[in-house]
Amino acid sequence: MNSFYYSPTHNQGITKTISVTSGKGGVGKSSMVANMALQMAREGKRVLILDGDWGMANIDIMFGVRSRYTVEDVVKGRKELKDVIVEVAPGVDLIPGGQGLYDLQHIDTLMRRYLLDQVGTLEGLYDVMLIDTAPGIADNVLYLNSAAQEICIILGPDPASLTDAYSLIKVLHQKQRETRFSIMCNQVTDEIDALRIFKRLDDVASQFLCVRLKYIGFVPFDPELRKATKSQQLVVLSRPMSVSGQAIQGIAQKLSGFRELRESKGGMQFFWEQMMGVA
Ligand SMILES: Nc1ncnc2c1ncn2[C@@H]1O[C@H](COP(=O)(O)OP(=O)(O)OP(=O)(O)O)[C@@H](O)[C@H]1O
Ligand SMILES: [Mg+2]
Repeated sequence: MNSFYYSPTHNQGITKTISVTSGKGGVGKSSMVANMALQMAREGKRVLILDGDWGMANIDIMFGVRSRYTVEDVVKGRKELKDVIVEVAPGVDLIPGGQGLYDLQHIDTLMRRYLLDQVGTLEGLYDVMLIDTAPGIADNVLYLNSAAQEICIILGPDPASLTDAYSLIKVLHQKQRETRFSIMCNQVTDEIDALRIFKRLDDVASQFLCVRLKYIGFVPFDPELRKATKSQQLVVLSRPMSVSGQAIQGIAQKLSGFRELRESKGGMQFFWEQMMGVA
């Protein structure tokens, strides 16, 4: 298994933070986060996943690991941040987030300072942080998304996923003043299907909101991915040559390689400050 991974390179820059989100549930956020993280690690990136789905945190299960502690233990002062981070694969670490993430908005100044000091030690350790969110437009989801440098919205093939994605973009724009979104389509038939769905969203969004959507690719519906999920495997590892495995590899490369000229909102420190409502 080791030859599968390149040795990690040291990161001189700041951590790129990318949230993976959707309006509607079940479009494939957690699957994409877990598979993309693994793929990025294969390319020598050091990846941290933040499981931000408070109701159904399941990233650890996808990697066949059971995490013992969450951010809640950190917020309650029972553990340090470094103690809750678990290595789920070579080059991939996980912060089991859960409910505790949302207590961050209400912690006292002393704990905030203490936690930010701990976050400071993580800066530079990771090239990328991928944040898996719950679906929808709850405040918690909005905080996670607007704290991230890049917001990646997943669309599914059904009309409800499109209208719910539009609602999410609208609320993120109106409440958090977000203007730029990356869009990927999952479980679609092919690229024509993906572009058709993207265009429908882009047309409405550009007509009614002052936002920019960037299409970053598609992953076709693939029974291999579903099979892999059922047997607690990740398709980029168990079936790298499958259609979904190949597509995810391409998107992961794009997402981790793409560097904004404007590095605003970047970095671990910025992300956690936003989550604590101090930035
Ligand atoms: N490209 C794909 N082809 C086939 N099945 C897929 C694909 N992507 C995801 N799935 C399947 O869809 C189901 C839902 O995926 P996943 O749990 O990743 O979605 P989610 O968006 O995280 O859901 P939730 O909103 O509940 O958190 C899983 O069974 C997964 O295996
Ligand atoms: Mg999920």
